[in-house]
Amino acid sequence: MAERVWAGIVGVGGCVPERVVTNRELESLVDTSDEWIRERTGIIERRIVRPEQSTSDLAVCAAQRALADAGVEPDAVDLIIVATATPDMLFPATASLVQERLGCKTAGAFDLSAGCTGFLYGLITGAQFIIAGTYRTVLVIGADVLSKITDWEDRSTCVLFGDGAGAVVLQPVPAGYGLLASCLGSDGSGADLLKMPAGGSRLPASALTVEKGLHYLHMNGREVFRFAVRILGEAASGVIRTAGLRQADIDLFIPHQANIRIIEAAAKRLELPMERVLVNVDRYGNTSSASIPLGLDEVVRSGRLAHGDRVVMVAFGAGLTWAAAAIRWYGARRQAAPTD
Ligand code: UT7
Repeated sequence: MAERVWAGIVGVGGCVPERVVTNRELESLVDTSDEWIRERTGIIERRIVRPEQSTSDLAVCAAQRALADAGVEPDAVDLIIVATATPDMLFPATASLVQERLGCKTAGAFDLSAGCTGFLYGLITGAQFIIAGTYRTVLVIGADVLSKITDWEDRSTCVLFGDGAGAVVLQPVPAGYGLLASCLGSDGSGADLLKMPAGGSRLPASALTVEKGLHYLHMNGREVFRFAVRILGEAASGVIRTAGLRQADIDLFIPHQANIRIIEAAAKRLELPMERVLVNVDRYGNTSSASIPLGLDEVVRSGRLAHGDRVVMVAFGAGLTWAAAAIRWYGARRQAAPTD
């Protein structure tokens, strides 16, 4: 019988817009305060794109950095997966636009919609092509520009989000490294809790949908919060068990970055000290599908992640969806600062 193939991350790249928007700036837009935002979410500032920038711009920037990090030429990429809730257009896929701009001439490309869980859905899906022996090099990008679908007059959502992109290059790695265990989950009964109601086939964009603000992101924050606190711990402990590890074995925990209170609750449930938990929500807000790869990029650049480290990543988002992955870090090189 043929030996099983292991799929791992061999390059990482991140990209956030240059423009910083502080909580103080938001105080002039809506009835909020720096104090409320910090206390209730842990967010201090976020990055927002310029009006002419879109998801594919950040995705290309992050992908180029990941390819350079991996030392992989664009024409060696077999597949591109772009996880996003804010594609440039409903179709064609943002992944095809990215493929063209990167010059990945022989790559297949598709978008993946799983809200903030999108990057992990993409990572786990992309890894299967390598494990199956179908492809050698898969580029997975998590990119979102939620600022473009945010109602900047709604204080319950506009203070939470930021724009960004992160990318990883997946390739076969030596046995025992890379993806050790994973899970994907969905509970469509929670679909109404987080959605952009208009612009699809159910409610096509019209003057009326715009007048009613249905082209903006709508969220029941309290319910999503309750779900998140429960599911992060459950999903993470599930993959830790499946990977044959104990919680104490985890060198780094990278949860989706929506709210510091959700992150701390998950860490507590997993009995992990905060020194082993990646936090970037303070500087970037909730960057949706970019939050985990941006976190990964940060720990690789700072040298915080070492060869052989065990990392658990876990996310939740619109759908409702959730996913978790346990990996043993193989390695990636470089790095430069993640601004566009
Ligand atoms: O990536 C997945 C997507 N989203 C999430 O993960 C979000 C998950 N949810 C959350 O992070 C939290 O639920 C929020 C940060 C959205 C809200 O925090 P909360 O502690 O659950 O606040 P709340 O919704 O219970 O609201 C408490 C109060 C309300 O006032 P009243 O009704 O008690 O008078 C809100 O109107 O806070 C008020 N409020 C604000 N006040 C100042 C809501 N937003 C703001 C604001 N500034 N920006």
